[in-house]
Amino acid sequence: MPASSPKSTQNIIGTGPLEFTPEIERETAAIYERVRHVIPEIEWRAHAPYIYEIQKLKRQRNAIILAHNYQTPEIYHGVADLKGDSLALARDAVGVHSDVIVMCGVHFMAETAKILNPSKTVLIPDPEAGCSLAAAITAEDVRRLREQHPGVPVVTYVNTTAEVKAESDVCCTSANAVEVVESLATDRVIFIPDEFLGSYVASRTNVEVILWKGHCEVHEQFSAPAIQAYRDNYDDLLILAHPECSPEVLGKADFVGSTSGMIREVGLRQPKRVLMVTECSMSDNVAVEYPQIEFVRPCNLCPHMKRITLPGILDSLQSMKHVVDVDPSVAQRARRAVERMLAPAKRPAGSPSEAGRS
Ligand code: 13P
Ligand code: SF4
Repeated sequence: MPASSPKSTQNIIGTGPLEFTPEIERETAAIYERVRHVIPEIEWRAHAPYIYEIQKLKRQRNAIILAHNYQTPEIYHGVADLKGDSLALARDAVGVHSDVIVMCGVHFMAETAKILNPSKTVLIPDPEAGCSLAAAITAEDVRRLREQHPGVPVVTYVNTTAEVKAESDVCCTSANAVEVVESLATDRVIFIPDEFLGSYVASRTNVEVILWKGHCEVHEQFSAPAIQAYRDNYDDLLILAHPECSPEVLGKADFVGSTSGMIREVGLRQPKRVLMVTECSMSDNVAVEYPQIEFVRPCNLCPHMKRITLPGILDSLQSMKHVVDVDPSVAQRARRAVERMLAPAKRPAGSPSEAGRS
């Protein structure tokens, strides 16, 4: 695609939908070929002009786009440079050779990218893209927990604010939670804020886990009877579940793991049919790679992830907003907890060493 000066794309937002020209059709044809069975042509005509403009502007700004596995296919396959689960995004953020990082995910992910890349400009297209888990606990809550359980280490899921991470001993993601807890070589940990992920960790270790009652508003909606009904109604169904689901739902699954762990499992097993008990868009994104597999979709959307859109990404790059900043003293303490998570685990995200259950 030809490059032009940032000026040439100014005022695109607010002037109505962009035009789907023959040049844009030509330039985006290869991407459409990949995603055509998950994005209808009528929708593609609306997406393609934004993809075209974002690709141009990305080069002009020396920007890189990181996208979580829950982003919609036009973002995930259309404009993202690096994609993955929370662990992969945290790792990929380190050593990124660009001036600007655009996080297509939720706010805690952008904060983590900023914590690990203090000298870069980190943008999030919508600063209201939050997370019910991150909203479930404050730094003050963590200080109180420490008073109640003196000397017990605090293991914090990355789905938290920078202030909460700063009060923690070590972070973890759904891909490495069991390994991180075991690496502490202690008989008790405080695990915050996801009660269900914490219970899952407890079921996989001999460590006593002190839990907090935070839940993911998307995963807590899945019920065990509903998952059982899918099992009863579909032959040869492989059921993969995210550990943010309740223990009863996890009990119905063939495999439990992070979003990247689930994707890896689809590739390894190549099932006839699969049900991914997680956010909706992920099935669309994986279906692009495996058109022969039937994806059975109980559809739960994350309203926060869905705040990120192509027009929002373009606006973000045009206006260099919304800049994510973390107070340097908070960032320094939070970085310790995140780096402690990244240091011992040298495996790639979603690799076979992930604590999944089959
Ligand atoms: P993953 O780290 O498994 O991608 O999970 C992040 C998340 O927010 C799941 O709801
Ligand atoms: Fe947070 Fe749940 Fe959305 Fe993940 S799916 S970002 S845990 S609310």
